[in-house]
Amino acid sequence: MVPYTSIIPVFLIVLLFPPSIVSLPIQGRFLKCLSINSESSFPFSSILYTPKNSSFTDVLLSTAQNLRFALPSVPQPKFIFTPLQESHVQAAVICSKALGIQIRIRSGGHDFEGISYTSVIDTPFIVVDLANLRSISVDIKHKSAWAQAGATVGELHFRISEKSKNLAFPAGACPSVGLGGHLSGGGYGPLFRKYGLSADNVIDAHIVDVHGRLLDRKSMGEDLFWAIRGGGGASFGIITAWKVKLVPVPSTVTVFRVLKFLDQGLTKLLYRWQQVAHKFDEDLYLIVGIRPGIASATGKKTVRTVYSGLFLGDTSRLLKVMAKSFPELNVTRKDCIEMDWISSVLYEAFFPANSTPEVLLQRKNLFPVYTKSKPDFARKLINETALEGLWDFFIQEDKLATLLVPYGGVMDRISKSETPFPHRKGVLFMLEYATSWNDPSESATHIDWARKVYEYMTPYVSKNPREAYLNHRDLDLGMNEKVNTSVEEARVWGAKYFKGNFNRLVKVKTRVDPDNFFRNEQSIPPRPRS
Ligand SMILES: Cc1cc2nc3c(=O)[nH]c(=O)nc-3n(C[C@H](O)[C@H](O)[C@H](O)COP(=O)(O)OP(=O)(O)OC[C@H]3O[C@@H](n4cnc5c(N)ncnc54)[C@H](O)[C@@H]3O)c2cc1C
Ligand SMILES: *[C@@H]1O[C@H](CO)[C@@H](O)[C@H](O)[C@H]1NC(C)=O
Ligand SMILES: *[C@@H]1O[C@H](CO)[C@@H](O)[C@H](O)[C@H]1NC(C)=O
Ligand SMILES: *[C@@H]1O[C@H](CO)[C@@H](O)[C@H](O)[C@H]1NC(C)=O
Ligand SMILES: *[C@@H]1O[C@H](CO)[C@@H](O)[C@H](O)[C@H]1NC(C)=O
Repeated sequence: MVPYTSIIPVFLIVLLFPPSIVSLPIQGRFLKCLSINSESSFPFSSILYTPKNSSFTDVLLSTAQNLRFALPSVPQPKFIFTPLQESHVQAAVICSKALGIQIRIRSGGHDFEGISYTSVIDTPFIVVDLANLRSISVDIKHKSAWAQAGATVGELHFRISEKSKNLAFPAGACPSVGLGGHLSGGGYGPLFRKYGLSADNVIDAHIVDVHGRLLDRKSMGEDLFWAIRGGGGASFGIITAWKVKLVPVPSTVTVFRVLKFLDQGLTKLLYRWQQVAHKFDEDLYLIVGIRPGIASATGKKTVRTVYSGLFLGDTSRLLKVMAKSFPELNVTRKDCIEMDWISSVLYEAFFPANSTPEVLLQRKNLFPVYTKSKPDFARKLINETALEGLWDFFIQEDKLATLLVPYGGVMDRISKSETPFPHRKGVLFMLEYATSWNDPSESATHIDWARKVYEYMTPYVSKNPREAYLNHRDLDLGMNEKVNTSVEEARVWGAKYFKGNFNRLVKVKTRVDPDNFFRNEQSIPPRPRS
C-alpha cells in the first residue's frame, strides 16, 4: 500500500542534455532523461514500450475501449510509459517537456473519442498509462478511501465491499471505467440522485503539475482542486490519486428491470416517466434504455424500452414508493430482486447472476465494440408527438440506443458552480444517444445515424447553450484544431460542457499551465501572455 501520510513534493531538476544524447531516438533520450531525473537507478526500460516491443500492441489496446481508435490507421504513440510510482510520473512530465513531446494520459481508456491513447492535433505523442498505479486503501473509521487514478470503478467498489457492506462510493455502473477520467469529468451512477456525482464526493487529490511537482489539495490550492473535479484532469496535469468520501448504503437494496414495447403504451408511459422520475424518492434510481426491437406477434421492427431500477431499501418499501409515484409501470413483487449493495453493482453491470464480486477486479473491457455517442440534457418534457418522431429512427437503424437518466434529488441542491459540472437544478433528465457496431466498414453509416438523432432532438432539449456531459465526450461539438486555439474558439464547445464555469477553468489553466503543455482536442486553453 502506498503511504499517503506525508507528501514531500519532489522538485526534480532538469539537467541539460549532453550532445551525445541528442542523436538517440526519442525513447532513448526519454530513458536517459528519466535516469538523470530520478533518484533511484530504476530500470525504466522495463516500463517503456515502443512499437518494436512485441507487447506494444497488447498494451496499447489493453484498455482501448472504443475499437474505432484501435484501428491501424489511427495515429499511435511513439511509445507507452507505464509508471509504477508517483515519482515516475513526475519524471515523465519533466522529460516530455524537456524533449518537446506531447503526453496523452490514460487511466481506464474509456474516453468516447479515444483521446487518452490517440491524437488528432499533436503528433508525435506518447501515452503515459497509469494502469499500474492502482492501489486502494479504504478507511472505514473515517468513511473515506485513497485510490490511485489508474484503479477502476470496479476495483474501488470491490475494495470497499471487502471491508463493509454498508458503505459505497457513488460512481458509474461500468466497472472497467478508470478513476482518472471518471472522477475528473463528473461520474454519474445509481447513487447520484441521493449523493451526487463521483466528483462531488472527492475530498483530496494528488496531481503532478507541469513543473513535475507532486501536489495535494493543500499545496495545489482550492482553484485547481475545483477544476479537476469535473473540468477534465487532462487540461491541468496528471492526477495520480484521489481521496474520496464513502456514503452509507442499506444492507438490502432492490433491483428490477421491466420491459415495454411500442404496442404496450410505451410512448405514453415514457411521457409519464419524464413527469415523475425527477421527483421520485431519492432512494429510487430508475433509468430508461431505448432500443430497436422485434415485435414477437408480427415479427416487425418495433421499439422497446427497459426500465431499470435500483432502490436503496427492501421490496415492500419500493412497492409503496412505486404505487404512489409511478403506478403506471405496474412493477410487482415478482419483478423485484433483493440483494446486498455489491451484488447490485454486478447486476447493473450485467454480470451473470452467479458471479462473485471478484469479477470487478478484471480490468478487461468486456464488450469491445466500435461506438459513437452523443450527449444531451432535457429541461422540459418531450411530448408524445416528438417521441413518436424519434421512434422512426429506431425502426430504421438497428444499432441505435438511447439512455435517459433521471435527475432530481441532491443534483437539484448542489450549486451549479460548486464544481465545473454545471448541469444541476432544472435538468429533468440526461440523455445519451449511442450507436455501436462490430464491422469497421459500417462506421460512417452508424456515426451518421447518431448525428441525425442529435439533430432531430434539437428543439426538445436544452439550448443556449445546448448542454453536454464531458464524460460523454463528443468531438462533433467542436475541438481545438490547433495548438493555440483561442479562448473564444474553445468556448463553442466549452460552454456546452461547463456553461458559466468555463471562464473560471480558463483562469485556473492560465495560472497553472500558461504555455499549454497539457493539451488535447478538447482541453481548456490558457489566455495568451500579455
Ligand atoms: C462502456 C462505458 C460505460 C460508461 N459508463 C459511465 C457511467 O455509468 N457513468 C458515467 O458518468 N460515465 C460513464 N462512462 C464515461 C466515462 O466516465 C468516461 O469515459 C471517463 O472519462 C473514463 O475514464 P477513464 O479513466 O476510463 O478514461 P481515459 O480514456 O483513460 O481518460 C478519459 C479522459 O481523462 C483524461 N485522464 C485520464 N486519466 C487521467 C489522469 N490520471 N489525470 C489527468 N487526466 C486523465 C484522459 O487524458 C482523457 O482526456 C462510460 C464509458 C464507457 C466507455
Ligand atoms: C522493449 O524492448 C527493449 C529493447 O529490446 C528492451 O530493452 C525493453 O526492456 C523492452 N521493454 C519491455 C517493457 O519489455
Ligand atoms: C398496468 O396494469 C393495468 C391493470 O392490470 C393495465 O390496465 C395497464 O394497461 C397496465 N399498464 C401498462 C403500461 O402495462
Ligand atoms: C410537441 O412539442 C413541440 C416542440 O416543443 C411543439 O412544436 C409541438 O406543437 C408539440 N406537440 C404537441 C402535440 O403538443
Ligand atoms: C498560433 O501559432 C501559429 C504557429 O504555431 C502562428 O502562426 C499563429 O499566429 C498563432 N496564432 C495565434 C492566434 O496566436
